[in-house]
Amino acid sequence: MKVYLDHGATTPVDKEVVKAMQPYFTEKYGNASSLHSFGREAKEAMEKARKSVAKLINAEPKEIIFTSGGTEADNIAIKEIMFTNRNKGNHIITSRIEHHAVENTCKFMEKMGFKVTYLSVDKNGFISLDDLRKAITKETVLVSIMHANNEIGTIQPIEEIGKICKENDVYFHTDAVQTVGKVAVDVKKMNIDLLSSSAHKLYGPKGVGCLFVKEGTRIGSLIHGGNHEKGLRAGTENVSGIVGFGKACELAGKRMDKEVEHLTKLRDKLIKGVLEIKDSWLNGDPSKRVPGNTNFSFRYIEGESLIMYLDEMGIAASTGSACSTKELKPSHVLTAIGLKPEEAHGSLRLTLGKDNTEEEVEHVLKALPEIVEKLRKMSPLAK
Ligand SMILES: Cc1ncc(COP(=O)(O)O)c(C=O)c1O
Repeated sequence: MKVYLDHGATTPVDKEVVKAMQPYFTEKYGNASSLHSFGREAKEAMEKARKSVAKLINAEPKEIIFTSGGTEADNIAIKEIMFTNRNKGNHIITSRIEHHAVENTCKFMEKMGFKVTYLSVDKNGFISLDDLRKAITKETVLVSIMHANNEIGTIQPIEEIGKICKENDVYFHTDAVQTVGKVAVDVKKMNIDLLSSSAHKLYGPKGVGCLFVKEGTRIGSLIHGGNHEKGLRAGTENVSGIVGFGKACELAGKRMDKEVEHLTKLRDKLIKGVLEIKDSWLNGDPSKRVPGNTNFSFRYIEGESLIMYLDEMGIAASTGSACSTKELKPSHVLTAIGLKPEEAHGSLRLTLGKDNTEEEVEHVLKALPEIVEKLRKMSPLAK
C-alpha cells in the first residue's frame, strides 16, 4: 500500500485540471500578447482563469497578478511595497514562523537598509495582536503575516490583523499558500491588501501562482521587461499553467465544504491515534489549523529516521518543511513555538489530501507505533 501524506509540500494535479490544460500546449499555443486569433484565444483563456482565481478569494479579476508561484509572489509583495513606498517609511513587521520565501526576503531587506520586526508566537503558533499593535510605528509600511503555517498548520487571526493594519494605515500582505482552496479566504472581509497563492498546493500545476494586489495599492515591478500583467510582472505568461490554476480554483471552490469535512475527520482520527504513542505530542493548535495538517514530536528519535522507515513502508511524510529537508538546523518554526532543538529534530509532519482514506490512516496508525518503538530501542537518548 502506498500512502501519500505530504500534501503540504505538493498535491497531485487533478485529472480535470490536466484535461483543461492540455489543449494549451499543442493546439491553443498562442502567446497571449499576440494580436492574431491564436493570441486572442490564449488571452481569453487566461482572463477566464483570472476570474476563477479572483472568485475563490473574493477579489476582482484585475487585482490578480499571475506569477511563477508563491515564492515569487512573496518577493514581489515585500520588495516592491517597500521600494515603492520608501517615502512613507522603512519598517516591515513579520513573524518568526514565516515560510523561507518571506523570512529570507525580509533578511535581504535588512541588508538593503530596511528595518524588520519579527513577532514572536505563543506555544500554539499564534502571534499576539497586542504585540502587533505595539510594533507599529510611524515608519511602518508593511505587515506580512502568513495565513496558515506550512509546518504546524496554525491559522492566524487574519481578519483581526487586517483590521489593525487598516486602522494604522499600513499595508497588509499575507502568504496564503497553505490556505487558498483549503479554507475560506475573503480578501475584502479580511482587509488584505496583498495575498500570495500557489497552484500546486490545491491540485494545480507547479510553477504558477498569483499575487493579489488590492486596487489602489502603490506597488512597482520586480521583474522588468514587457508590459505583461499590468506592468507588474514581465514575461510571456504561462498560459497552460494559468489555465490549470484557474481550473484548480474553480474545483476547490465547489469542493471546499465537503473536503474540509473529510479532511478534518481524517486529521482528528490521525491525531487521536498517534497521540496514543508514549512521549509524543501535537505541534500547533488542536483546532485552529489547516484541515489536512498534523505535526507531531516524538521524544528520543530523529524525524529523518522516521521518514526513512515510513518510506520503506510506502508512507510519504516529511519532517519540517520540504524546502528545509536538506538543512541540519532544527526548524525555525518549531523552535519559535518553544521546542528544544532535540525535540524539534524528532518531528513528523503528515499532511492529508482529498483522496486519502480512513484505511490509509489506519495503515499509518499501525505502522507508526512499531517504527517509533524500533527507533527508540536504537536510540542512546531513550535509555
Ligand atoms: C507558506 C508557503 N509559502 C510559500 C511557499 C512557496 O510556494 P512555491 O512553491 O509556489 O514557490 C510555500 C511552499 O511550500 C509555502 O508553504
